[in-house]
Order: sequence, then C-alpha cells, then structure tokens
Amino acid sequence: MFCYIMIICHKKEDLRRAIDGLRRENQTLGFVPTMGALHDGHLSLIRKGLEENSRMVVSIFVNPTQFDNTLDLEKYPRSLEKDLELLQSLSKDIIVYAPVADDIYGNAVVSEHFDFSGLENQMEGRFRKGHFDGVGTVVKRLFEIVQPDIAYFGKKDFQQFRIIQELIKKHQIPVQVKGVEIFRDKDGLALSSRNERLSKAQREAAPFIYKTLKAAKKRFGTESVNKITEWVEKQFAQHDLLTLEYFTIADEVSLKTVRRKTKTKSYRAFIAVFAGDIRLIDNIALN
Ligand code: PAJ
Repeated sequence: MFCYIMIICHKKEDLRRAIDGLRRENQTLGFVPTMGALHDGHLSLIRKGLEENSRMVVSIFVNPTQFDNTLDLEKYPRSLEKDLELLQSLSKDIIVYAPVADDIYGNAVVSEHFDFSGLENQMEGRFRKGHFDGVGTVVKRLFEIVQPDIAYFGKKDFQQFRIIQELIKKHQIPVQVKGVEIFRDKDGLALSSRNERLSKAQREAAPFIYKTLKAAKKRFGTESVNKITEWVEKQFAQHDLLTLEYFTIADEVSLKTVRRKTKTKSYRAFIAVFAGDIRLIDNIALN
C-alpha cells in the first residue's frame, strides 16, 4: 500500500489547521491552483513556488462553474491518485487541497458575476460564455481559503493570468500574482491536461499550432496584423485534423485585438483550435 507523508486535505478547516500549524514568522506560503491531471506544465509552476517559498499549497479541483460545455466537464481527465504520487515525489513540503464542490460552493454551485474591465469579453470570454465568472469565483474563494503570499499562474492561459491580476486589484486581495512561462513538449505542443484525450493522429498534428504561431511571430516584424491573420486562417482551412476557432493579435495589457501596431506596446498572438471535440489554446509573445 502507498503511504502518503505529504499533507492532503479535503476540507477547508483541515487545510487552515495544517497551514496555521506550519506557518512560522518570516516564512511565505506559495499557492498553485489546478484542476488536476497534473503534467510538467503544472509542475513547472509548483517547482518555481517551492524555490521561492517555504511552503506550497496545491489545489486540485475540477471547477464546474467555469465549463460552458457539459461534455468538456464530463470528459475532463481526473487522476487524483496519480497526481498525489507526482506531488509527493516532488516535495513533502507540499500541502494538497483536494475538496469536493460543497467545500467551495456550499449547496449553490453558481458563479458570481465579475467586471474585469473588459478583459473578460475578449477571446476565451467571447467563445466560452461565463467561463471567467467561473474562474473568478473559484480563484477568489481559493484565495480566501488558502490566504497565500504568492500565487502562480501559467502564461499558457495568458488571459486567465491577466484576469487574476485584475481580480486582486479590483477586490484588493493581498496576494502577489506571478506569471510563469509556457511549458512545451519537445515538438512545441504546449502541455495541457486535455492533450491526454488526443488520438495518435491528432497528437501528431497538434504541434502545427505552435509552428504556425512561430511563423506568425516571424511575419510580425514586416507584415500587417490583417495579413498575418488571413495567412493563419488559410493555414488551418487547409488542415484535415485541426479547425481554427480564433486567431488574434492583441495588446498584452488590454487584450484587445490590434489593428495597427505601435512601437511602445507589447503584443501577443492568441489561438484556439479544435482537434475533434478537444479544444486547445496557445499564445506567443510577438515583440
Ligand atoms: P489548469 O488548467 O489545471 O491549470 C492550472 C495552472 O497551470 C494554470 O495557471 C495554467 O495556466 C497552468 N498551466 C497549464 N498548462 C501549462 C503549461 N503548459 N505551461 C505553463 N503553465 C501551465 O487553469 C486552471 O487549471 C483553472 O482555470 C484554475 C486556475 C485552477 C481555476 O479553476
């Protein structure tokens, strides 16, 4: 039988007790919220947190309110046992919080409504209705429960990272939010829990997403945003296994689609693609 030494809590009261018991003066608490099915992308956030903090909390909770599609929620990979083994092999200093929905939501599994100054209306917010209300609700709740000093978010979900920055600003939540670079497989595919669901052929096709983003970046120096967007759309129109949902070049701060470039601003290209019913997102810094 596997014997866990790492602390695993399913209830917020137990988590609070574990944190309070361990916290000493001048120690910081880091936090990585996840939906589980952990991979090296998640682990890169946790490793950074372990370097910078004396203690880390990792939450594992597939948050129902951020799914706009019930099939996506049902099929979302769940592998708690394997996740716990992975975390334990990483460090015994991790405290895991793996609640059931009741512990977070009580008996009303619903989202709060948020105003993220328009960030929520772009890209993922446009194509996944209510998604960021769900993310905002659960992350705000998790911040209240865990009370971390520093929380780590991946730039793989760059819009989510920006929205969490806006959440703490608007609600004056005393947490420092840090963004962590995208972790990719050798062939360039950004790691994602959803990659597990790809067929062999889809998995072989998927690196085309990052390849196209890199090509768009190359063109960014000399070509207009419109021309690059049309070129990307054409690449996917010709693809048998991947269907483009959106490609957009946006201002990193406002996340609004850019028509004309300005030298002083930072831009990123964002993409969402379907491989069958599996939705993959990625992005790249352009300048
Ligand atoms: P999840 O998709 O499990 O991701 C948890 C964290 O890992 C997020 O901050 C995400 O951006 C980061 N991450 C995932 N893949 C990554 C990769 N390849 N490189 C770098 N970071 C990566 O994002 C969520 O869960 C949820 O929305 C959550 C914030 C937990 C709220 O429910």
